[in-house]
Amino acid sequence: MATIKDVAEAAGVSIATVSRVLNQNGYVSPELNQRVQDAIAALGYQRNALARNLRRSESLTLGILVPDSNNSFFSEIAKGVEETCFAKGYTVVLCNTDENPDKATSYLSNLYQHRVAGFIVVSLGDFKPRLQKLIEDGYPIVIVDRPVTDLKADSVISDNFSGARLAMQHLIQLGHRRIAYVVGNMHLETIKARWAGVMSTLEEYGVPLDPSLVYEHGDYTPKSGYAAAEALLKRADPPTAIFAFNDLMAFGVLSYAQMNGIHIPSKVSVVGFDDVTLAAYSAPSLTTVAQPKYALGQKVAEILLDRIHGDTSPPIKLVLPTELIVRCSTASLE
Ligand code: RIB
Repeated sequence: MATIKDVAEAAGVSIATVSRVLNQNGYVSPELNQRVQDAIAALGYQRNALARNLRRSESLTLGILVPDSNNSFFSEIAKGVEETCFAKGYTVVLCNTDENPDKATSYLSNLYQHRVAGFIVVSLGDFKPRLQKLIEDGYPIVIVDRPVTDLKADSVISDNFSGARLAMQHLIQLGHRRIAYVVGNMHLETIKARWAGVMSTLEEYGVPLDPSLVYEHGDYTPKSGYAAAEALLKRADPPTAIFAFNDLMAFGVLSYAQMNGIHIPSKVSVVGFDDVTLAAYSAPSLTTVAQPKYALGQKVAEILLDRIHGDTSPPIKLVLPTELIVRCSTASLE
């Protein structure tokens, strides 16, 4: 009786590739697909029907891995995933990875052993090699929000570059030139794209960058935004505007300003990124770059469900538009 290993050897591919062809999930090039099919025919390989049925029938569950379940940006993506999957009869398990690659790997491995049919992953720093290996091993994984370069996997992300340009054009057109930045982990592709948008706009308008106004210790939490504001606004020559690379850090800036009698926006304008639900209700309400959070979740869930149900087309790389939402935290330079 030929085994999956015999088929892999005969076709000159990995067992994971044979598994992807047999399960019809994940991308396999037409040439490799044909080689595997030819080997199956030549060896008369018969899949273990019981195992296949067990796997599919038990696995009406999907996992979504997010870096911080405290951040409503991710729960708004998860809502798009959950409603899309529930409508198709799937249960969704939310996993909080705490930006920890070991925890993310543990979740993926354990859930895969428990017949979870597929995964939606918001990637994190230092995770690409493990992600690459899991995908090569046949894990049905799709990426949302944070792109991972050179990964043969589907992804749905926002246009971070254009979004950052919209924020910068808004501040510059209000007359601001001494703009400070609260940035997150500069190794993340989302941050690189936003920073590229900042630099592109500064160059376009001929506004010089003051490197001392770049606060690089942001970690996407309000606490780091508060610390950033303290460092930036205590200076003898404080900035007139602060662009925080996510809303939670922007809320921290607003809190520091309120605690220290600094009026927003007349003394300092503040812009965030994400447009989480609370951005419309902060004091003052936050001008921010809106990411299409629900649509990110809906689209990535649709792609994963198609993969699970046999779509073997080449990887899809979807980029959804961002939009500037002007509220009360920005104003012209007095
Ligand atoms: O708020 C969390 C940030 O990290 C967001 O800007 C989102 O893009 C995520 O990657």
